[in-house]
Amino acid sequence: MKVLIRNIKQLLQVRDNPVRKVSGKEMKTLPVLENAFLFIDGDHIADYGKMEDLPNHESDEIIDASGRVVMPAWCDSHTHIVYAGNREQEFVDRINGLTYEEIANRGGGILNSAKKLQDTPEEELYKQSAKRLEEVMTLGTGAIEIKSGYGLTPDAELKMLRVAKKLKANYGIPVKATFLGAHAIPATYRNDRKGYIDLIINEMIPAVAREGLAEYVDAFCEKGYFTTEETERVLEAGKAFGLIPKIHVNQFHAIGGVQVGVKHNALSVDHLEVMREEDIKVLKGTETMPVALPSCSYFLSIPYTPARQIIDAGLPLALATDYNPGSTPSGNMNFVVATACIKMRMTPEEAINAATINGAYAMGLSDTCGSISRGKKANLIITGEIPGYAYLPYAFGSNHIERVILNGKLI
Ligand code: NIG
Ligand code: FE
Repeated sequence: MKVLIRNIKQLLQVRDNPVRKVSGKEMKTLPVLENAFLFIDGDHIADYGKMEDLPNHESDEIIDASGRVVMPAWCDSHTHIVYAGNREQEFVDRINGLTYEEIANRGGGILNSAKKLQDTPEEELYKQSAKRLEEVMTLGTGAIEIKSGYGLTPDAELKMLRVAKKLKANYGIPVKATFLGAHAIPATYRNDRKGYIDLIINEMIPAVAREGLAEYVDAFCEKGYFTTEETERVLEAGKAFGLIPKIHVNQFHAIGGVQVGVKHNALSVDHLEVMREEDIKVLKGTETMPVALPSCSYFLSIPYTPARQIIDAGLPLALATDYNPGSTPSGNMNFVVATACIKMRMTPEEAINAATINGAYAMGLSDTCGSISRGKKANLIITGEIPGYAYLPYAFGSNHIERVILNGKLI
């Protein structure tokens, strides 16, 4: 199927020479073609340019995008969309004064979700997760990372990752899976932390690798969860099986997680709500992508990742949702981008770069996603009629997406 999109008001993130990521001052530049066309052949972007240079392309379908913005679909590099049930009671408990930490200490939080997930059959878990994936696809997400970590037993962790694998097979969008067995110490190992970490290392990671269920290995490096030493043990074990580190750090406390990520060549270090100067400095000159999750800050009322300091230090930054039942029950990348502009003082150009090409980088998909480049996947957003792309984060409460194209097909 060949599709021509014509009369595009603004075609965003056009990269003739594709980049893997953008950093520092480069993030302020979002390459835009005004009055453009885009030609899709099958599942990839075949051509694009100015309307005045429109070649005589044969097409099966023509879409008129007058007054509209066309851009790469969002690349959401950090989610936990495979989960069972919800935790709205904890949300109410927090409104009534309990903290996220207090709820976790009472057996709520991640352990609450783990209990629910262990009791949920794989088919049912798939159904609930597929519904979330479909929702975020209609919200413009065209590539996604999915973590395990609500299983916390070998069986339940594998169940989660099999569901992620099935989502990938059935929905056809790029899905990357991350093994997050080190998300919390399960209740049964409360007095035997080492026993649980040994279980992760000796049983879970080899099984995940044997079934080819994940590309990445993650750990929640945080006070009350996993220490830097424990995180390192898990990352080393994952690396021995070919899993690349991509970790949760500095959400509530700066305990040296960023340093662990850098030491182990993590693809990304995510959260970063609490950053010391040394945590920013250690990222300089590395290939590790810092990832901010503003919807999590919004929902938990915790600090926002200091985007200005990170970008002004010359570093790149990616934006993702963190979609999960506890800290971020939302997978809306449009809200993420708007919140980054409104609360983190990122410019629309920076935020869109962070949510497309840098998000693609943070899940190893820079070569196929995240920009309008010939040969890349035709995963695109077409907005409704808007004055220009800055209107997207500005009018933050409205849905501006008119159509989403994934693999060259309208969804
Ligand atoms: O990324 N920080 C750790 N994990 C999740 C939240 C876990 C939960 O509360 O269920 C996060 O925010
Ligand atoms: Fe997370």
